[in-house]
Amino acid sequence: MERTLVLLKPDAVQRRLVGRIIARFEDAGLDIPRIETVTATAEQVRSHYPDDEEYLRSMGEKTVRAYAEAGKDCSAAFGTNDPVGIAQRIREQLVEYLTSGPMIKMLLCGPEAVTTVRRLIGATLPADADPDSIRGAFSNDSPIIAGQEGRAVMNLVHASGTPEEAESEIALWFPGL
Ligand code: CDP
Ligand code: MG
Repeated sequence: MERTLVLLKPDAVQRRLVGRIIARFEDAGLDIPRIETVTATAEQVRSHYPDDEEYLRSMGEKTVRAYAEAGKDCSAAFGTNDPVGIAQRIREQLVEYLTSGPMIKMLLCGPEAVTTVRRLIGATLPADADPDSIRGAFSNDSPIIAGQEGRAVMNLVHASGTPEEAESEIALWFPGL
């Protein structure tokens, strides 16, 4: 059995989507041995999204790609076209986003739980997410509009990207588990 960490972000709670999102994980046969409400601190969010160049580059590249597809230049929204610099800015916007209200933190278990849950939530940017996925079905925020407004893309849910990320995120949100 593999473990993974899910956060239902403040927009999921505010929009009263918690029950419907959890139902999708239960329908897929995942176990939820721990689930709690949490109001995150800025420090927790900064630990959750590490200041790690490889991670930041992959996040920034998604943004550069989305802007290029829309025929837009990143520098107006982020002051730079460098993926790492863009992602550093987004990382600070994520602190605002994830501390803006209560979240639900959950430990999920099952065979290949990391991959299964990532498939259920869909791609990071709602427009790229499969319409049957959680993000595709329930969110439609755009990185262009979010960039103009100086905030993170609201996409309802976080799930660990790899088993290693899962273990470090579980240690952060459920210390001792
Ligand atoms: O959440 P996920 O693992 O799918 O994506 P990530 O690359 O680790 O990015 C973390 C979070 O940053 C996303 O879920 C979005 O909320 C946010 N983000 C953003 O606000 N703008 C972008 N252009 C890319 C990501
Ligand atoms: Mg991620």
